Amino acid sequence: MDKIGIFDFGGQYCHLIARRIRDLGVYAEIIYEPSPDYAGFILSGGPGNVSEDDSPQLPRKFFNDVSVPVLGICYGHQMIAQSLGGTVEKGKEREYGKKIATLDTSSPLFKNLKQKEQVWMSHYDQIITLPSNFENIGSTDSCPIASYQNPYENFYGVQFHPEVKHTINGDVILDNFLNIIGCKREWKLNKWIDSKIQELHSAIGSKRVIMAVSGGVDSTVAAALLNKADIDAHFIHVDTGLMRLNESFEVTNIFNDLGTENLHVVDASNRFLEKLGEVSDPEQKRKIIGNLFIDIFEEEAEKLGDFDFLGQGTIYPDRIESAEPSKHANVIKTHHNVGGLPERMKLGLIEPLNELYKDEVREIGTMLGLPEKFINRHPFPGPALAIRILGKVSEERVSILRQADAIVTEIIEEKGIYNTLWQAFPALIPVKSVGVMGDKRTYEYIITIRAVESVDAMTADWARLDYEILEEISSNIINRVEGVNRVLYDITSKPPGTIEYE
Ligand code: XMP
Repeated sequence: MDKIGIFDFGGQYCHLIARRIRDLGVYAEIIYEPSPDYAGFILSGGPGNVSEDDSPQLPRKFFNDVSVPVLGICYGHQMIAQSLGGTVEKGKEREYGKKIATLDTSSPLFKNLKQKEQVWMSHYDQIITLPSNFENIGSTDSCPIASYQNPYENFYGVQFHPEVKHTINGDVILDNFLNIIGCKREWKLNKWIDSKIQELHSAIGSKRVIMAVSGGVDSTVAAALLNKADIDAHFIHVDTGLMRLNESFEVTNIFNDLGTENLHVVDASNRFLEKLGEVSDPEQKRKIIGNLFIDIFEEEAEKLGDFDFLGQGTIYPDRIESAEPSKHANVIKTHHNVGGLPERMKLGLIEPLNELYKDEVREIGTMLGLPEKFINRHPFPGPALAIRILGKVSEERVSILRQADAIVTEIIEEKGIYNTLWQAFPALIPVKSVGVMGDKRTYEYIITIRAVESVDAMTADWARLDYEILEEISSNIINRVEGVNRVLYDITSKPPGTIEYE
Protein backbone atom coordinates (compact mmCIF):
# COMPACT_ATOMS: atom_id res chain seq x y z
CA MET A 1 0.00 0.00 0.00
CA ASP A 2 1.31 3.50 -0.89
CA LYS A 3 2.03 5.63 2.17
CA ILE A 4 2.64 9.32 2.69
CA GLY A 5 5.08 10.48 5.38
CA ILE A 6 4.18 13.78 7.07
CA PHE A 7 7.10 15.50 8.81
CA ASP A 8 5.93 17.06 12.04
CA PHE A 9 7.56 20.43 12.67
CA GLY A 10 5.27 21.15 15.58
CA GLY A 11 2.37 22.59 13.62
CA GLN A 12 -1.04 22.43 15.23
CA TYR A 13 -2.53 21.06 11.99
CA CYS A 14 -0.11 18.16 11.44
CA HIS A 15 -2.64 15.45 12.40
CA LEU A 16 -5.24 17.22 10.32
CA ILE A 17 -3.06 16.82 7.20
CA ALA A 18 -2.78 13.07 7.88
CA ARG A 19 -6.53 12.77 8.34
CA ARG A 20 -7.29 14.60 5.11
CA ILE A 21 -4.87 12.39 3.16
CA ARG A 22 -6.47 9.27 4.66
CA ASP A 23 -9.91 10.59 3.75
CA LEU A 24 -8.60 10.75 0.19
CA GLY A 25 -7.84 7.02 0.36
CA VAL A 26 -4.09 7.01 1.03
CA TYR A 27 -2.50 5.90 4.31
CA ALA A 28 -0.55 8.74 5.95
CA GLU A 29 1.54 8.82 9.10
CA ILE A 30 3.41 11.40 11.14
CA ILE A 31 7.19 11.00 10.89
CA TYR A 32 10.39 12.54 12.21
CA GLU A 33 12.97 10.77 10.00
CA PRO A 34 13.03 10.20 6.25
CA SER A 35 12.58 6.63 5.04
CA PRO A 36 12.38 4.95 1.61
CA ASP A 37 8.99 3.50 2.65
CA TYR A 38 7.06 6.56 1.49
CA ALA A 39 5.62 7.34 -1.92
CA GLY A 40 5.69 11.05 -1.12
CA PHE A 41 6.36 13.49 1.72
CA ILE A 42 4.53 16.46 3.17
CA LEU A 43 6.43 18.96 5.30
CA SER A 44 4.02 20.43 7.84
CA GLY A 45 3.69 23.89 9.25
CA GLY A 46 5.26 24.81 12.58
CA PRO A 47 5.77 27.64 15.03
CA GLY A 48 9.52 27.99 14.26
CA ASN A 49 11.39 30.40 12.04
CA VAL A 50 13.42 28.65 9.29
CA SER A 51 16.33 31.05 9.60
CA GLU A 52 16.87 30.35 13.31
CA ASP A 53 19.35 27.61 14.23
CA ASP A 54 17.21 25.98 16.88
CA SER A 55 14.13 25.47 14.71
CA PRO A 56 13.52 21.98 13.30
CA GLN A 57 15.16 21.40 9.91
CA LEU A 58 15.67 18.55 7.52
CA PRO A 59 19.29 18.11 6.42
CA ARG A 60 20.19 19.52 3.01
CA LYS A 61 21.01 15.92 2.00
CA PHE A 62 17.32 15.04 2.25
CA PHE A 63 16.42 17.61 -0.42
CA ASN A 64 19.31 16.53 -2.65
CA ASP A 65 18.56 12.80 -2.38
CA VAL A 66 14.78 12.65 -2.29
CA SER A 67 13.36 11.02 -5.40
CA VAL A 68 9.63 11.15 -4.60
CA PRO A 69 7.37 14.24 -4.67
CA VAL A 70 7.52 16.63 -1.71
CA LEU A 71 4.88 19.19 -0.72
CA GLY A 72 5.76 21.89 1.80
CA ILE A 73 3.01 23.61 3.77
CA CYS A 74 3.63 26.97 5.51
CA TYR A 75 6.86 26.41 7.51
CA GLY A 76 7.59 23.37 5.29
CA HIS A 77 7.06 25.54 2.18
CA GLN A 78 9.65 28.01 3.47
CA MET A 79 12.07 25.26 4.50
CA ILE A 80 12.18 23.70 1.03
CA ALA A 81 12.83 27.10 -0.59
CA GLN A 82 15.52 28.10 1.87
CA SER A 83 17.29 24.71 1.80
CA LEU A 84 17.60 24.85 -1.98
CA GLY A 85 18.97 28.39 -2.24
CA GLY A 86 15.94 30.70 -1.91
CA THR A 87 15.55 33.34 0.80
CA VAL A 88 13.02 33.71 3.56
CA GLU A 89 12.58 36.88 5.60
CA LYS A 90 10.80 37.75 8.74
CA GLY A 91 7.58 39.54 7.85
CA LYS A 92 6.63 42.86 9.46
CA GLU A 93 3.24 41.61 10.45
CA ARG A 94 1.35 38.38 10.65
CA GLU A 95 -0.85 37.38 7.70
CA TYR A 96 -3.68 35.56 9.40
CA GLY A 97 -7.11 34.35 8.35
CA LYS A 98 -9.06 33.94 5.14
CA LYS A 99 -7.34 35.40 2.05
CA ILE A 100 -7.95 35.29 -1.68
CA ALA A 101 -5.07 33.68 -3.55
CA THR A 102 -4.46 34.04 -7.28
CA LEU A 103 -3.34 30.67 -8.58
CA ASP A 104 -1.72 29.43 -11.77
CA THR A 105 -4.24 26.78 -12.71
CA SER A 106 -1.97 25.29 -15.37
CA SER A 107 0.04 23.74 -12.50
CA PRO A 108 -0.94 20.10 -11.77
CA LEU A 109 -1.17 21.16 -8.09
CA PHE A 110 -4.06 23.50 -8.90
CA LYS A 111 -5.91 21.38 -11.45
CA ASN A 112 -9.70 21.84 -11.32
CA LEU A 113 -9.41 25.04 -9.25
CA LYS A 114 -10.47 28.57 -10.10
CA GLN A 115 -7.93 31.33 -10.60
CA LYS A 116 -9.08 33.01 -7.40
CA GLU A 117 -9.56 30.75 -4.40
CA GLN A 118 -10.16 31.38 -0.71
CA VAL A 119 -7.25 30.09 1.36
CA TRP A 120 -6.32 30.06 5.06
CA MET A 121 -3.10 31.86 6.01
CA SER A 122 -1.24 31.91 9.29
CA HIS A 123 2.38 33.13 9.07
CA TYR A 124 4.86 35.95 9.75
CA ASP A 125 7.84 34.96 7.59
CA GLN A 126 7.67 34.68 3.86
CA ILE A 127 9.72 33.64 0.85
CA ILE A 128 11.46 36.59 -0.85
CA THR A 129 13.33 34.77 -3.61
CA LEU A 130 12.88 31.27 -5.00
CA PRO A 131 15.64 28.74 -5.73
CA SER A 132 16.61 28.42 -9.39
CA ASN A 133 14.26 26.25 -11.48
CA PHE A 134 11.36 27.06 -9.14
CA GLU A 135 8.28 28.83 -10.57
CA ASN A 136 5.94 31.08 -8.62
CA ILE A 137 2.41 29.71 -9.04
CA GLY A 138 0.39 31.65 -6.46
CA SER A 139 0.16 34.96 -4.61
CA THR A 140 -2.04 37.00 -2.29
CA ASP A 141 -2.10 40.78 -1.67
CA SER A 142 0.46 40.55 1.08
CA CYS A 143 2.35 37.41 0.04
CA PRO A 144 3.83 37.54 -3.47
CA ILE A 145 5.17 33.96 -3.32
CA ALA A 146 2.28 32.00 -1.79
CA SER A 147 3.00 28.87 -3.85
CA TYR A 148 5.69 27.41 -6.08
CA GLN A 149 6.57 24.33 -8.08
CA ASN A 150 9.61 22.64 -9.50
CA PRO A 151 7.96 19.81 -11.44
CA TYR A 152 11.30 18.48 -12.73
CA GLU A 153 12.54 17.77 -9.24
CA ASN A 154 9.07 17.23 -7.78
CA PHE A 155 8.97 20.04 -5.22
CA TYR A 156 5.75 21.89 -4.48
CA GLY A 157 4.93 24.40 -1.79
CA VAL A 158 2.01 26.41 -0.42
CA GLN A 159 2.26 29.16 2.17
CA PHE A 160 -1.41 28.63 3.06
CA HIS A 161 -3.02 25.62 4.74
CA PRO A 162 -4.90 23.30 2.34
CA GLU A 163 -5.75 20.98 5.26
CA VAL A 164 -7.88 23.61 7.01
CA LYS A 165 -11.53 23.78 5.95
CA HIS A 166 -11.33 27.56 5.42
CA THR A 167 -9.20 26.80 2.35
CA ILE A 168 -12.37 25.96 0.51
CA ASN A 169 -10.83 23.68 -2.12
CA GLY A 170 -7.94 22.48 0.05
CA ASP A 171 -8.97 18.86 -0.45
CA VAL A 172 -8.68 19.31 -4.24
CA ILE A 173 -5.09 20.57 -3.80
CA LEU A 174 -4.15 17.59 -1.61
CA ASP A 175 -5.90 15.24 -4.03
CA ASN A 176 -3.92 16.81 -6.91
CA PHE A 177 -0.69 16.23 -4.98
CA LEU A 178 -1.63 12.54 -4.57
CA ASN A 179 -2.26 12.40 -8.33
CA ILE A 180 1.14 13.99 -8.99
CA ILE A 181 2.65 11.15 -6.94
CA GLY A 182 0.43 8.63 -8.72
CA CYS A 183 -0.70 7.10 -5.41
CA LYS A 184 -2.99 4.10 -5.41
CA ARG A 185 -6.07 4.83 -3.23
CA GLU A 186 -5.99 1.71 -1.14
CA TRP A 187 -6.71 2.92 2.40
CA LYS A 188 -10.23 1.58 2.97
CA LEU A 189 -11.49 0.78 6.43
CA ASN A 190 -13.54 -2.30 5.49
CA LYS A 191 -10.44 -3.85 3.95
CA TRP A 192 -8.55 -2.77 7.06
CA ILE A 193 -10.81 -4.91 9.30
CA ASP A 194 -10.08 -8.07 7.31
CA SER A 195 -6.35 -7.54 7.17
CA LYS A 196 -6.22 -6.59 10.87
CA ILE A 197 -8.05 -9.79 11.80
CA GLN A 198 -5.50 -11.81 9.85
CA GLU A 199 -2.69 -9.87 11.52
CA LEU A 200 -4.21 -10.53 14.97
CA HIS A 201 -4.43 -14.25 14.19
CA SER A 202 -0.82 -14.52 13.20
CA ALA A 203 0.37 -12.43 16.19
CA ILE A 204 -1.82 -14.10 18.84
CA GLY A 205 -2.81 -17.50 17.48
CA SER A 206 -4.36 -19.53 20.27
CA LYS A 207 -2.68 -17.53 23.05
CA ARG A 208 -4.79 -15.64 25.59
CA VAL A 209 -5.50 -11.91 25.82
CA ILE A 210 -6.72 -9.93 28.82
CA MET A 211 -8.09 -6.43 28.44
CA ALA A 212 -9.68 -3.66 30.51
CA VAL A 213 -12.83 -2.12 29.07
CA SER A 214 -13.91 1.21 30.51
CA GLY A 215 -17.06 1.76 28.49
CA GLY A 216 -15.18 4.25 26.30
CA VAL A 217 -15.30 4.00 22.51
CA ASP A 218 -11.65 3.03 21.95
CA SER A 219 -11.43 0.10 24.33
CA THR A 220 -14.87 -1.17 23.30
CA VAL A 221 -14.06 -1.08 19.58
CA ALA A 222 -10.72 -2.83 20.23
CA ALA A 223 -12.56 -5.49 22.25
CA ALA A 224 -15.20 -5.90 19.52
CA LEU A 225 -12.42 -6.46 16.99
CA LEU A 226 -10.72 -9.12 19.14
CA ASN A 227 -14.11 -10.72 19.60
CA LYS A 228 -14.83 -10.72 15.87
CA ALA A 229 -11.40 -12.24 15.23
CA ASP A 230 -12.37 -15.08 17.59
CA ILE A 231 -9.33 -14.51 19.75
CA ASP A 232 -9.35 -16.11 23.21
CA ALA A 233 -9.82 -12.76 24.95
CA HIS A 234 -11.25 -11.85 28.37
CA PHE A 235 -12.51 -8.37 29.19
CA ILE A 236 -12.53 -6.81 32.66
CA HIS A 237 -14.77 -3.87 33.46
CA VAL A 238 -13.98 -2.24 36.80
CA ASP A 239 -16.96 -0.33 38.18
CA THR A 240 -15.15 2.35 40.17
CA GLY A 241 -18.40 3.78 41.52
CA LEU A 242 -17.33 7.01 39.81
CA MET A 243 -19.03 6.22 36.50
CA ARG A 244 -21.92 7.94 34.79
CA LEU A 245 -25.51 6.81 35.42
CA ASN A 246 -26.09 3.17 34.32
CA GLU A 247 -22.66 3.02 32.69
CA SER A 248 -21.66 -0.48 33.83
CA PHE A 249 -25.11 -1.75 32.90
CA GLU A 250 -24.72 -0.34 29.39
CA VAL A 251 -21.26 -1.89 28.99
CA THR A 252 -22.76 -5.24 29.95
CA ASN A 253 -25.53 -4.83 27.36
CA ILE A 254 -23.09 -3.96 24.58
CA PHE A 255 -20.95 -7.01 25.31
CA ASN A 256 -24.03 -9.21 25.51
CA ASP A 257 -25.03 -7.95 22.08
CA LEU A 258 -21.57 -8.76 20.77
CA GLY A 259 -22.26 -12.31 21.93
CA THR A 260 -19.23 -12.65 24.21
CA GLU A 261 -19.44 -14.43 27.54
CA ASN A 262 -16.02 -13.19 28.51
CA LEU A 263 -16.93 -9.87 30.12
CA HIS A 264 -16.13 -9.78 33.85
CA VAL A 265 -17.64 -6.85 35.76
CA VAL A 266 -16.10 -6.02 39.14
CA ASP A 267 -17.91 -3.74 41.54
CA ALA A 268 -15.12 -1.91 43.34
CA SER A 269 -17.02 1.27 44.31
CA ASN A 270 -16.29 0.97 48.01
CA ARG A 271 -12.60 0.43 47.51
CA PHE A 272 -12.26 3.56 45.35
CA LEU A 273 -14.21 5.78 47.75
CA GLU A 274 -12.27 4.45 50.70
CA LYS A 275 -8.87 5.00 49.05
CA LEU A 276 -9.81 8.51 47.97
CA GLY A 277 -10.82 9.28 51.57
CA GLU A 278 -10.07 12.87 52.45
CA VAL A 279 -7.71 13.47 49.53
CA SER A 280 -8.39 16.66 47.62
CA ASP A 281 -5.26 17.23 45.51
CA PRO A 282 -6.10 16.59 41.80
CA GLU A 283 -2.86 14.81 40.89
CA GLN A 284 -3.01 12.67 44.00
CA LYS A 285 -6.61 11.73 43.20
CA ARG A 286 -5.62 10.75 39.66
CA LYS A 287 -2.73 8.62 40.95
CA ILE A 288 -4.83 6.87 43.60
CA ILE A 289 -7.48 5.97 41.04
CA GLY A 290 -4.94 4.85 38.41
CA ASN A 291 -2.99 2.67 40.86
CA LEU A 292 -6.05 1.07 42.45
CA PHE A 293 -7.46 0.38 39.01
CA ILE A 294 -4.26 -1.49 38.11
CA ASP A 295 -4.31 -3.48 41.41
CA ILE A 296 -7.91 -4.57 40.86
CA PHE A 297 -7.30 -5.42 37.23
CA GLU A 298 -4.33 -7.61 38.23
CA GLU A 299 -6.30 -9.36 40.96
CA GLU A 300 -9.13 -10.17 38.57
CA ALA A 301 -6.81 -11.30 35.79
CA GLU A 302 -5.09 -13.68 38.20
CA LYS A 303 -8.44 -15.31 38.98
CA LEU A 304 -8.92 -16.01 35.26
CA GLY A 305 -5.67 -17.93 34.79
CA ASP A 306 -2.56 -17.20 32.74
CA PHE A 307 -2.49 -14.69 29.92
CA ASP A 308 0.06 -13.91 27.22
CA PHE A 309 -1.07 -10.50 25.99
CA LEU A 310 -2.62 -7.32 27.31
CA GLY A 311 -5.06 -5.69 24.89
CA GLN A 312 -5.34 -1.90 24.83
CA GLY A 313 -7.49 0.64 23.00
CA THR A 314 -4.55 2.96 22.19
CA ILE A 315 -5.28 5.05 19.10
CA TYR A 316 -2.85 6.78 16.74
CA PRO A 317 -2.66 10.23 18.37
CA ASP A 318 -2.00 8.61 21.81
CA ARG A 319 0.93 6.75 20.33
CA ILE A 320 2.44 9.78 18.62
CA GLU A 321 2.17 11.83 21.79
CA SER A 322 3.97 9.25 23.89
CA ALA A 323 6.67 8.72 21.24
CA GLU A 324 7.52 12.42 21.32
CA PRO A 325 7.57 13.14 25.03
CA SER A 326 9.94 16.08 24.68
CA LYS A 327 7.25 18.14 22.97
CA HIS A 328 4.85 17.44 25.78
CA ALA A 329 7.38 17.58 28.58
CA ASN A 330 5.28 19.85 30.72
CA VAL A 331 2.85 17.46 32.37
CA ILE A 332 -0.36 19.34 32.88
CA LYS A 333 -2.33 16.31 34.04
CA THR A 334 -1.32 12.72 34.61
CA HIS A 335 -3.60 10.82 32.26
CA HIS A 336 -5.22 7.69 33.49
CA ASN A 337 -3.98 4.68 31.56
CA VAL A 338 -2.60 1.24 32.17
CA GLY A 339 0.77 2.00 30.58
CA GLY A 340 2.99 0.27 33.15
CA LEU A 341 0.99 -2.95 33.17
CA PRO A 342 2.53 -5.03 30.35
CA GLU A 343 5.98 -5.02 32.01
CA ARG A 344 4.56 -5.60 35.49
CA MET A 345 2.40 -8.52 34.37
CA LYS A 346 5.04 -9.73 31.91
CA LEU A 347 2.59 -9.60 29.02
CA GLY A 348 2.97 -8.75 25.36
CA LEU A 349 1.02 -5.75 24.14
CA ILE A 350 -1.78 -5.86 21.57
CA GLU A 351 -3.06 -2.49 20.35
CA PRO A 352 -5.28 -3.23 17.35
CA LEU A 353 -6.31 0.41 16.81
CA ASN A 354 -2.93 2.09 17.15
CA GLU A 355 -2.82 3.31 13.55
CA LEU A 356 -6.30 4.85 13.52
CA TYR A 357 -7.70 8.28 14.23
CA LYS A 358 -10.78 8.69 16.41
CA ASP A 359 -13.18 9.15 13.49
CA GLU A 360 -11.75 6.03 11.86
CA VAL A 361 -12.23 4.12 15.14
CA ARG A 362 -15.86 5.26 15.16
CA GLU A 363 -16.32 4.05 11.59
CA ILE A 364 -14.81 0.66 12.45
CA GLY A 365 -17.09 0.46 15.50
CA THR A 366 -20.12 1.08 13.30
CA MET A 367 -18.98 -1.61 10.84
CA LEU A 368 -18.60 -4.01 13.77
CA GLY A 369 -22.23 -3.35 14.72
CA LEU A 370 -21.84 -1.20 17.83
CA PRO A 371 -24.83 1.11 18.44
CA GLU A 372 -24.59 4.57 16.83
CA LYS A 373 -25.43 6.33 20.09
CA PHE A 374 -22.57 4.60 21.85
CA ILE A 375 -20.10 5.24 19.03
CA ASN A 376 -20.74 8.98 19.08
CA ARG A 377 -20.43 9.30 22.82
CA HIS A 378 -18.42 12.23 24.12
CA PRO A 379 -14.98 11.45 25.55
CA PHE A 380 -14.99 10.65 29.25
CA PRO A 381 -11.84 10.73 31.39
CA GLY A 382 -10.42 7.59 33.01
CA PRO A 383 -10.64 9.01 36.58
CA ALA A 384 -14.30 9.67 35.75
CA LEU A 385 -16.53 11.85 37.93
CA ALA A 386 -13.79 12.07 40.59
CA ILE A 387 -12.01 14.81 38.63
CA ARG A 388 -15.27 16.68 38.08
CA ILE A 389 -15.83 16.92 41.83
CA LEU A 390 -13.40 19.63 42.79
CA GLY A 391 -11.48 18.56 45.88
CA LYS A 392 -12.69 15.81 48.19
CA VAL A 393 -14.83 13.01 46.74
CA SER A 394 -17.69 11.49 48.76
CA GLU A 395 -20.59 9.19 48.01
CA GLU A 396 -23.04 12.08 48.37
CA ARG A 397 -21.06 14.28 45.96
CA VAL A 398 -20.75 11.50 43.38
CA SER A 399 -24.47 10.87 43.58
CA ILE A 400 -25.31 14.58 43.08
CA LEU A 401 -22.95 14.91 40.13
CA ARG A 402 -24.12 11.68 38.51
CA GLN A 403 -27.73 12.90 38.54
CA ALA A 404 -26.74 16.31 37.17
CA ASP A 405 -24.67 14.62 34.45
CA ALA A 406 -27.61 12.51 33.31
CA ILE A 407 -29.77 15.64 33.11
CA VAL A 408 -27.23 17.58 31.03
CA THR A 409 -26.86 14.68 28.58
CA GLU A 410 -30.63 14.19 28.39
CA ILE A 411 -31.28 17.86 27.52
CA ILE A 412 -28.37 18.21 25.09
CA GLU A 413 -29.55 15.08 23.26
CA GLU A 414 -33.16 16.18 23.25
CA LYS A 415 -32.19 19.54 21.70
CA GLY A 416 -30.32 17.71 18.94
CA ILE A 417 -26.95 19.34 19.70
CA TYR A 418 -25.11 16.40 21.30
CA ASN A 419 -23.10 15.59 18.18
CA THR A 420 -22.18 19.23 17.56
CA LEU A 421 -20.34 19.47 20.88
CA TRP A 422 -17.00 17.90 21.79
CA GLN A 423 -18.11 17.51 25.40
CA ALA A 424 -20.89 18.84 27.63
CA PHE A 425 -20.95 17.99 31.30
CA PRO A 426 -21.48 19.36 34.79
CA ALA A 427 -18.88 19.58 37.55
CA LEU A 428 -19.50 19.98 41.25
CA ILE A 429 -18.03 22.95 43.09
CA PRO A 430 -18.33 21.79 46.67
CA VAL A 431 -18.85 25.23 48.09
CA LYS A 432 -22.25 26.12 49.46
CA SER A 433 -24.13 29.28 48.66
CA VAL A 434 -27.39 30.72 49.94
CA GLY A 435 -30.56 30.50 47.89
CA VAL A 436 -34.31 30.62 48.34
CA MET A 437 -36.80 27.93 47.34
CA GLY A 438 -40.50 27.95 48.22
CA ASP A 439 -39.93 30.89 50.60
CA LYS A 440 -37.31 28.91 52.46
CA ARG A 441 -33.62 29.69 52.75
CA THR A 442 -31.35 27.05 51.20
CA TYR A 443 -27.62 26.55 51.65
CA GLU A 444 -26.39 24.08 49.04
CA TYR A 445 -23.73 23.14 46.50
CA ILE A 446 -22.91 24.82 43.18
CA ILE A 447 -22.90 23.01 39.84
CA THR A 448 -20.97 24.41 36.89
CA ILE A 449 -21.76 23.42 33.31
CA ARG A 450 -18.93 22.97 30.82
CA ALA A 451 -19.75 22.63 27.10
CA VAL A 452 -16.97 22.92 24.55
CA GLU A 453 -16.33 22.70 20.83
CA SER A 454 -13.05 21.20 19.70
CA VAL A 455 -11.48 19.06 16.98
CA ASP A 456 -8.81 17.27 18.97
CA ALA A 457 -9.07 18.47 22.61
CA MET A 458 -5.70 20.23 22.30
CA THR A 459 -7.58 23.51 22.12
CA ALA A 460 -11.27 24.11 22.78
CA ASP A 461 -13.75 26.94 22.61
CA TRP A 462 -16.61 27.29 25.09
CA ALA A 463 -19.86 26.57 23.31
CA ARG A 464 -22.29 29.44 22.77
CA LEU A 465 -25.35 27.48 23.96
CA ASP A 466 -28.76 29.09 23.61
CA TYR A 467 -30.02 30.79 26.75
CA GLU A 468 -33.17 28.64 26.59
CA ILE A 469 -31.10 25.46 26.72
CA LEU A 470 -29.02 26.80 29.62
CA GLU A 471 -32.21 27.80 31.41
CA GLU A 472 -33.65 24.31 30.96
CA ILE A 473 -30.49 22.66 32.23
CA SER A 474 -30.34 24.99 35.23
CA SER A 475 -33.98 24.60 36.29
CA ASN A 476 -33.95 20.83 35.79
CA ILE A 477 -30.83 20.39 37.90
CA ILE A 478 -32.09 22.61 40.70
CA ASN A 479 -35.55 21.03 40.73
CA ARG A 480 -34.50 17.42 40.33
CA VAL A 481 -31.18 17.14 42.17
CA GLU A 482 -31.32 17.49 45.90
CA GLY A 483 -28.37 19.38 47.35
CA VAL A 484 -27.85 21.93 44.55
CA ASN A 485 -29.30 25.45 44.52
CA ARG A 486 -27.14 27.27 41.95
CA VAL A 487 -25.94 26.50 38.41
CA LEU A 488 -23.14 28.40 36.62
CA TYR A 489 -22.01 28.31 33.00
CA ASP A 490 -18.27 28.12 32.31
CA ILE A 491 -17.13 30.55 29.60
CA THR A 492 -13.42 29.68 29.63
CA SER A 493 -11.76 28.37 26.48
CA LYS A 494 -8.69 26.08 26.38
CA PRO A 495 -6.17 27.59 26.77
CA PRO A 496 -6.18 29.17 29.31
CA GLY A 497 -8.55 26.64 30.92
CA THR A 498 -8.39 22.89 30.41
CA ILE A 499 -11.50 20.97 29.42
CA GLU A 500 -11.73 19.03 32.67
CA TYR A 501 -11.50 20.81 36.01
CA GLU A 502 -8.69 18.74 37.57
P1 XMP B 1 -8.01 18.46 29.40
O1 XMP B 1 -8.73 18.55 30.69
O2 XMP B 1 -6.55 18.10 29.56
O3 XMP B 1 -8.67 17.24 28.62
O4 XMP B 1 -8.20 19.68 28.54
C1 XMP B 1 -8.44 16.95 27.26
C2 XMP B 1 -9.28 15.75 26.90
O5 XMP B 1 -8.80 14.59 27.58
C3 XMP B 1 -9.82 14.02 28.39
N1 XMP B 1 -9.15 13.58 29.62
C4 XMP B 1 -8.81 12.31 29.85
N2 XMP B 1 -9.01 11.20 29.13
N3 XMP B 1 -7.94 9.91 30.79
C5 XMP B 1 -8.57 10.01 29.61
O6 XMP B 1 -8.73 8.98 28.96
C6 XMP B 1 -7.71 10.99 31.59
O7 XMP B 1 -7.13 10.88 32.66
C7 XMP B 1 -8.18 12.24 31.09
N4 XMP B 1 -8.13 13.52 31.58
C8 XMP B 1 -8.74 14.31 30.64
C9 XMP B 1 -10.81 15.14 28.62
O8 XMP B 1 -12.11 14.62 28.91
C10 XMP B 1 -10.74 15.89 27.31
O9 XMP B 1 -11.53 15.28 26.29
